[in-house]
Amino acid sequence: MKQNKYDDAPFFDRYSQMARSVEGLDGAGEWPAFRSLLPNLAGKCVLDLGCGFGWHCRYVREQGARAAVGVDLSEKMLARAMAETNDPDIEYRRCAIEDATFQIGQFDLVMSSLALHYVQHFGAVCRKVFDWLAPGGAFVFSVEHPMFTALAAQDWCLGPAGERRHWPVDHYQDEGVRHTSWMAEDVVKYHRTLASYVNALVDSGFHIARLAEPTLTAEVLARRPEWQDECRRPMFMILSAITEGEDKGAT
Ligand SMILES: C[S@@+](CC[C@H](N)C(=O)[O-])C[C@H]1O[C@@H](n2cnc3c(N)ncnc32)[C@H](O)[C@@H]1O
Repeated sequence: MKQNKYDDAPFFDRYSQMARSVEGLDGAGEWPAFRSLLPNLAGKCVLDLGCGFGWHCRYVREQGARAAVGVDLSEKMLARAMAETNDPDIEYRRCAIEDATFQIGQFDLVMSSLALHYVQHFGAVCRKVFDWLAPGGAFVFSVEHPMFTALAAQDWCLGPAGERRHWPVDHYQDEGVRHTSWMAEDVVKYHRTLASYVNALVDSGFHIARLAEPTLTAEVLARRPEWQDECRRPMFMILSAITEGEDKGAT
């Protein structure tokens, strides 16, 4: 099942008000960690799965990428991406990640920011991404952390005065669909264990290069002190995996 929640008007409006939607990559707390895992982008062909407003496509082009393709299911997200992009070497395609097709070895980097926890069959995506990458290519993606997706409520356990006591983790080993309450009711996401993410990559032929569970930097916290509690548990997980071949170099 592919739910297209971002085309739901109230959900889209709420998402559009988030810091990451207003400020772009600087408003995304995990961006410093994500950026640090990207390879040198000069001359690279890049695919962004679940590109949303196109922030990452524009970033990689600013860093010298030869071309970028952004894929997303949402008409509304892509409409804004196109409106804010003035670059003939960025192409946006309306398509589900699961249905995307590209040529073998077409890309040097496939990236995805916070979209793959919406995809049911992660292993199938890994196999396709592996084929789309040239030798020495990299797959760098972030997802909601398995500690964050385990429970559909995606919320703190509160004390009697409404204070945040702790973040609950339960049913961790029960992988599969979660009808979450993230910004709206019934937002469909898929929970996978950390082992499943790693093993799907390994089974597809990738070598794991790096795993990050970023916390907020002092600089981000200085700008956003209200995000302090986000440091109490990992909200995101970022993985970098590479195909065998000539190492094209990391920054
Ligand atoms: C949290 S937003 C992230 C957007 C962007 N990558 C970013 O980090 O700014 C998730 C995006 O994934 C897209 N998405 C969700 N499920 C998808 C699917 N199955 N295929 C393609 N895009 C999908 C949504 O439409 C949305 O634009």
